[in-house]
Parts: sequence; structure tokens; C-alpha cells
Amino acid sequence: MRERPTTAITNVVAWEALDSRGRPTVACRVQLSGGAVGRAVVPSGASTGAHEAVERRDGGARYDGWGVRDAVAAVVNELGPAVSGLDATNRARVDARLEDVDGTPDLARTGANAVLAVSLAAALAGAEALGRPLWQALADSDGSAATSPTPLLPMPMVNIFSGGAHAAGAIDIQDVLAVPLGARSFAHALELVARVRAATARLLEQRHGCSALVADEGGLSAPLPSNEAAVALVTEGIEVAGLRPGVDVSVAVDLAASQFGTAEGRYDLRSEDRVLDRDAWLEELRRWCERYPIASLEDVLHEDDWDGWTAASAILPAACQLLGDDLFATDRHRVGEGIQRRAANAVLVKPNQAGTLTRAERVVRVAHRAGLATVVSARSGDTEDTWLADLAVGWRAGQIKVGSTMRSERTAKWNRLLELQHDFGAQAALAGPEVLGRTRPVRASQR
Ligand code: PGA
Ligand code: ZN
Repeated sequence: MRERPTTAITNVVAWEALDSRGRPTVACRVQLSGGAVGRAVVPSGASTGAHEAVERRDGGARYDGWGVRDAVAAVVNELGPAVSGLDATNRARVDARLEDVDGTPDLARTGANAVLAVSLAAALAGAEALGRPLWQALADSDGSAATSPTPLLPMPMVNIFSGGAHAAGAIDIQDVLAVPLGARSFAHALELVARVRAATARLLEQRHGCSALVADEGGLSAPLPSNEAAVALVTEGIEVAGLRPGVDVSVAVDLAASQFGTAEGRYDLRSEDRVLDRDAWLEELRRWCERYPIASLEDVLHEDDWDGWTAASAILPAACQLLGDDLFATDRHRVGEGIQRRAANAVLVKPNQAGTLTRAERVVRVAHRAGLATVVSARSGDTEDTWLADLAVGWRAGQIKVGSTMRSERTAKWNRLLELQHDFGAQAALAGPEVLGRTRPVRASQR
């Protein structure tokens, strides 16, 4: 008698849950014929890019319009039945069916939040049925795993200070982060950035007389006199923590410039009462790179200013990672365009910008093939789920960004990576400075 397959999808249920901002989000559970279960709760951004897959919201008065009952109904009535009977371990097939059922390129009809919930829950159920953690199921189906079998833990990029849409506009730029490039292990990396966060909080109190507020991603926030002051503050935080800026810990900045800039090149720094054109803004950033130990700059310009991005690549230091978030929106066509135009040297990968795990995975492959770095990223509205950590390891992304070292939706991901470090034991390698994007090859002396 033929063995009964155990990986066929038999049941898909969904419900409305809450994200870390207290807004509704889609939760989904997928069950397989052999009894394995996968469950996922999808994240949601605040500084959402114009080119992302479209999140479906109910509108109306309930939860100020943020409800997702229609997206949940789409899972129950359309997406779930459509994937019923499919083999959950065949992620590409499941995701292709989900895309077909939706029928729109940006998944707006059923909702990218509905589609991603099923995509993730099915992938988790498939891995469970095979008795593998998700990272391993992903690595097994990626050709590169065969040639580099040692698992690679990602270099974390950790939020220390927030402004913009993550902190009620305290300053214009969105996030100043710490990258512990001198860390010896993943656990050591977290220890270093926790020291920087604590020192920066003390500095804020002493210098600016304010006990810092906790922003959406667990970073500190306070109204500072200028945007540059936030970069200076975190740099000083590294020093006060007894660490060497640029050696033990470097700085990364997510400008999120689409939030205060235009495609025509007008950058309105409200907190400083200054408006700069594109050239003056890039010159400002170039000066920051001279003054501070900046290893990575994200979304330096508006998401539709392709020419500006090409110019930025030429103007900003070749050793600096130039990272596209809203620019690429985890879309492989936009990443392809960026590669052609030499518009950036690294890609932020947010699964909910893509809408399915398969789409996000393709973006990672396209980027790596072209020599671009990748940073797997959470959203400012996130959940207690930990799958993002597994994606970073399974795809050998090299870098991960999930917010600060506090708030449980953030620590859930760090704690999963600590668990993996424990499980890998002596095999665990932490990605080093070489995983960061560079525009041109840099001589060792310039690094
Ligand atoms: P978001 O922020 O989730 O609010 O978009 C994260 C980021 O910009 O990187
Ligand atoms: Zn960003």
C-alpha cells in the first residue's frame, strides 16, 4: 500500500490578532494531513513605501479603520480553499497559487497581509512536517547551502534612537542604529549594542535633561536640536560605553527620506527649519560620513528618484553600505532596475513588502547574484513571531534588522538567534564586516 502523504494542506484558519502597535493584523494557522501545524502573525510598517504589496484594511470606525476582518475573510473563503490539498513543502507552488487567486500584481484584491499569512504558515507547517526548523528547510532548498554548509548568523543592525514616523517626528530622520562589527559572536554582538543603548540613554538624560521615551521599535527618542545631533549622540554613546567607534561598533542610519523628501529633490527638515535640494542633502550626508563612523545609510533619497540614487552611489563613500528599503520595496523588478542603474549596493528584505515568502526569497537570490548585500528586516509594527530570524539564517542574508534590544516583539527574534547560536555550537559563524554592501572594491587600508 502506498504511504499516505503527510504534507498536504488540509485546513487553513485565520483570525484578527494585534501587532506591537496595538493595531489589528492577520493571524493564520495551516494544518497538514500528517498533523503538522504552522502558525504566523504578519507584521506591518508605518513608513510604508509606495511600491510595497498592498496591505488590506477595513476602513470605517472600528480600530480607526485599521481592522483586517476583510483580509481574514479572504483567507478563510478564498486563499485557504485554493491551497487545500497542495504539498506545503513546495513553497513555490503554494505561493504561486496564492498569487493566482489574488490576481493583482500588488496583491491588493485579497490583501498582501492575507496572502503573506498563508504563505508563512504553510512554510512553517511544511518544515514542521519534515522535522526541520524553518531555517534548515529554506537552506536545504537553496543551492548555496550545499557549497557552504556552515550556518551563518547575521550581523545585527540595532535601533538605538528613533525619529520620523517611529517617534512622532521628534527629528526628521527615522532611525540611528548600532552595528557591532567587532563582535566575536552573535551573543557578544547583542551585548555590545545593549551597552551602547544604555550609555546613550544616560547621555540623553545628562545632556538634554530628558528621560528618553521608548519609540515604536524599542529605541530611544527625544526632540533633539538637529538630525545630526542624533548621529553624534549615538557615536558618543559608543564611546561612553567604553567601545571604539568604527572598530567595535559602527553607526547605521535609516533616513527614510521618502517621508520628508520628494522625487524632485526637495528635502524638508522640519525639525531644523531647513529645506535642502538633493545635492545639498547628499553633501550633508557625505559630511556625516566624514565625521561619524557610519557603516550603512538606508533610504538616503526619495524612493522614485532613481537618478539621485545613482548620484548618491558616486558621492557617498565607496566603503559605506547604501541600502534600499522603500527604493526596492522587496520587489525583484525594482532590484533589477537598481542593479542596472548602480543605484545602491544593498537591499532591505521585508517579507510583507513582497507578499509571499517565495517573492522575498527571489529578491535575496537576485541581489546576491549581482553582488549586493541583503538585510532581512522586521517592521515597526511587528509580532511575537520568530520566523524572521530563520529567514536570515536560511537565506544566508548576512544582516538582520529587527529594532532595539527591548520590547518582546524585538527580543523574540534576537532570542531565536541566540537559540540557534546555542544549537550550532562551535559551528556558529557570525557574519563579519565583509557582508556589508560596498559600491566599489575598497582597499583594506580604507576599511
Ligand atoms: P517601517 O520601518 O516598518 O515603519 O517601514 C522600518 C524601516 O523603515 O526600515
Ligand atoms: Zn527603512
